[in-house]
Amino acid sequence: MRWCTSNFICRFLHRHTLAISAFFIILVCVNQVLHFKRSASPTCYQIVSPFISIQSNHTHNVNNNRSFSSNDAKAIPPAIHWSQGRLDNRRMLKIYEWVWAGSLWEELMNRFNVCLATQGSIDRIASIGEVSEKWLGPISLAVYIRTSDEWIILNLFNIYMQRCSALFTQTVSIHVAVPVNYEPMNSPNDSSRFEFSPWYDHPCGQPSEFLSLLMKKLLPDGIDQGALYPQNHMRNIARKTCTTSWVFMTDVDIIPRPNSSLLLQEFYESPSSKCSKCAFVIPVYELERSARYPETKRQLIDYANSGLARQFHLKIYRFGHWATNYSMWVSTYIEEGPVQISHMVDPRMNHYEPFYVSSDVIPAHDERFIGYGFTRSSQVLEARVTGWKFLVLTPIFAIHWGLQTPQSLRQPILRTPQQIAQIRMRGYSFGANPRKSQNSHNHIVYTDFVAELMAKKNISVARHRKKSIQQQRKDLRNLRTG
Ligand SMILES: *[C@@H]1O[C@H](CO)[C@@H](O)[C@H](O)[C@H]1NC(C)=O
Ligand SMILES: *[C@@H]1O[C@H](CO)[C@@H](O)[C@H](O)[C@H]1NC(C)=O
Ligand SMILES: *[C@@H]1O[C@H](CO)[C@@H](O)[C@H](O)[C@H]1NC(C)=O
Ligand SMILES: *[C@@H]1O[C@H](CO)[C@@H](O)[C@H](O)[C@H]1NC(C)=O
Ligand SMILES: *[C@@H]1O[C@H](CO)[C@@H](O)[C@H](O)[C@H]1NC(C)=O
Ligand SMILES: *[C@@H]1O[C@H](CO)[C@@H](O)[C@H](O)[C@H]1NC(C)=O
Repeated sequence: MRWCTSNFICRFLHRHTLAISAFFIILVCVNQVLHFKRSASPTCYQIVSPFISIQSNHTHNVNNNRSFSSNDAKAIPPAIHWSQGRLDNRRMLKIYEWVWAGSLWEELMNRFNVCLATQGSIDRIASIGEVSEKWLGPISLAVYIRTSDEWIILNLFNIYMQRCSALFTQTVSIHVAVPVNYEPMNSPNDSSRFEFSPWYDHPCGQPSEFLSLLMKKLLPDGIDQGALYPQNHMRNIARKTCTTSWVFMTDVDIIPRPNSSLLLQEFYESPSSKCSKCAFVIPVYELERSARYPETKRQLIDYANSGLARQFHLKIYRFGHWATNYSMWVSTYIEEGPVQISHMVDPRMNHYEPFYVSSDVIPAHDERFIGYGFTRSSQVLEARVTGWKFLVLTPIFAIHWGLQTPQSLRQPILRTPQQIAQIRMRGYSFGANPRKSQNSHNHIVYTDFVAELMAKKNISVARHRKKSIQQQRKDLRNLRTG
């Protein structure tokens, strides 16, 4: 304590540092105990431990008996220090990491080598329960919250999930981002809004129904579909809060096949994964809602043959997953067994946006892309230009519930630079379909992005393509012969 040698208080502090610290520690502990007593009665929260209890158990209730009074409702939202957020690079969002941490997070970080990083807006998070029951490992979920009503919905949904799913409680950590001008509502005046039946005793196993109920009650006008959703910000938040060696990056409605965390863990312990700049693609199929989740790769292929399943986004944006080459995938290593490499992705991939697992040193998602369009493919392009290879794994896969058609979603219209220049002069408005206009806007951002990337790397697009095709053809040959 050099800074403090003269006056009496300093000398006192110096001599009694230990005693003073102990005093404060005791004070904090007593306070915690009191707080716990106050908040935890009458039902004390019972967490299922130890770690080994992580297992698929769909009907598992952490505490069936917990019932909520209007006092609980008033306690929502719980204390969050809205002033203690972190800004993103362009001061658009405030970010609050670790709003809730999975109760076994620390152990999971020690035990697992792959973490699932996912994100979604409030209206889409119901699938996180199924994701956690399938994945069976650590999950980092980033949720974008626009209004205090959405924040309350997230809280109520979280309470429901914690009541109903041990796996969710143990493995899912939640991070939140809000617009920079977000107006928190820390003491809801109108608590009667939260006392509606039956949010506190809604039966378990119905997260979608429960979420719809909350949405109907608290957001009767629905979520503004035209509002921009910062996908890439959310992806980066989820990625950076997964601190395992490898990260599987998905959207919240992508459901991995059961036990994927351990299957990938095993793969990463095998010699074929030893490659520092490899991203391992997990094929995603859309599956008819009435079908049962496929138990094996063979069953998934049967579904595909009978029209119940198909390449993800086939009818919406064919290019997105085209390069994965599904027809190749269905012909390799169909039998069940350890995860292995099926084949290498064709180097001529264009607008490729697969879901993959990799080390998180792979380039970040560019946060200039907001809303739909080019959010993932721009990142994949940057990875490719900086030397990353994409390899498809088998017999692992993931699914998306429901066959998607272009009625609700439109693929972006690819334009020439001249057309883009014209659109730029007219401003960024391209019609009534928000997804379409966001796509068109992002296509302009994408043009700049590509030019910048090539300048930064001092390569021409044509030269890069040629070189990378030659290199990757060679890699393909080696892969086949080796
Ligand atoms: C699921 O959890 C319940 C409640 O703890 C338990 O009784 C049941 O045996 C579990 N089922 C499996 C398959 O582990
Ligand atoms: C649940 O609550 C009922 C009535 O309050 C009580 O009789 C029962 O023992 C409780 N069950 C558990 C598992 O705590
Ligand atoms: C709560 O209600 C009181 C009285 O109606 C009002 O004065 C106050 O501004 C309200 N507070 C908030 C946070 O809306
Ligand atoms: C999950 O996969 C691991 C590694 O293959 C295996 O040892 C384990 O038994 C599997 N667990 C379940 C529940 O399938
Ligand atoms: C898939 O791979 C097969 C075999 O190499 C090839 O003939 C076919 O053109 C590929 N398809 C796509 C979409 O890349
Ligand atoms: C960029 O590449 C060109 C052609 O390969 C080369 O002539 C030029 O010196 C490079 N510029 C820099 C800054 O490296």
